[in-house]
Amino acid sequence: MSTKLPTEQELTQARLRLEIDGAVATVVLDRLDRRNAMTARTWHTLARIGDALPDDVRVVVFRGEGDTFSAGIDLAMFDPEGPDGEPSLLAQAQQAAQSDSGRAELEEIIAGVQRGFTWLRRPEVVTIAAVRGHAIGAGFQLALSCDIRILAEDAQLCMKEPALGLVPDLTGTKPLVDLVGVHRAMELCLTARTVDAGEARELRLAELVVPAAELSDTVADLTGALLTVPAGAASATKRVLQRAADASGLEEAAAAERTAQVERLFALLSGE
Ligand code: ACO
Repeated sequence: MSTKLPTEQELTQARLRLEIDGAVATVVLDRLDRRNAMTARTWHTLARIGDALPDDVRVVVFRGEGDTFSAGIDLAMFDPEGPDGEPSLLAQAQQAAQSDSGRAELEEIIAGVQRGFTWLRRPEVVTIAAVRGHAIGAGFQLALSCDIRILAEDAQLCMKEPALGLVPDLTGTKPLVDLVGVHRAMELCLTARTVDAGEARELRLAELVVPAAELSDTVADLTGALLTVPAGAASATKRVLQRAADASGLEEAAAAERTAQVERLFALLSGE
């Protein structure tokens, strides 16, 4: 990637830490005193990390500082003054409501923050959420945006947005529906209830549930296993699986497999 990663100062302002160790990047939600609550700045900075991630990074792990993944959006986003010099979402909505173009402008603002989440699906990386404690609202959607969720036994997931009068809009609805089905997704979202780790595993919201003390070792083991597969094959396979999930039928998925396999065979022939 040609763009630059956010500076240390920009990461700190966004309440993030970024640790890159060869093929593995770890993004830490780093706001212990607010249970790793996130603001628009956090999401814009996440998008910039995605834009500038070095090409040799193959696995990106997301975790929260301390024993909470994330308490979701910083509730100060709904105060008229907003959090720490950032615009209030409510004030932005009030302003938008006063002009003809306001609706489209507000959608643009939301599209901007969604970019912080969409890149996690990029085939070149495998994204892992390592979840301790609460993953609420935006925090749950961040975990849902990852390819793989490893939960500690103390994890608690909640799609809180409807309880606050909102809809989930940080790209979490598609993976939620894909994972649990539309009817369970409705039950979870429309009650805004909390799902514990055991239920999350039953609902396929967790690939693995482990004792909290084993979370980081488990993620390290998984990361090591992911890196044993050649990079080109890994990204091509992620792409094929994504196509299969969204395919309208077997033939579409089979066609995607054929196209990808020809590319793979040519890559192997050329000595990849
Ligand atoms: N935004 C801003 N501050 C927060 C948030 C948040 N989302 N969550 C917690 N905090 C602050 C608390 O106000 C408290 O601050 P204080 O020490 O100045 O009083 C501090 O973080 C610690 O929070 P506690 O509630 O004391 O911690 P506890 O461990 O008991 O509970 C929990 C954690 C369950 C996360 C609780 O704080 C909570 O329910 N937070 C709000 C969650 C929420 O509604 N998020 C929005 C979801 S919708 C969306 O994300 C789009």
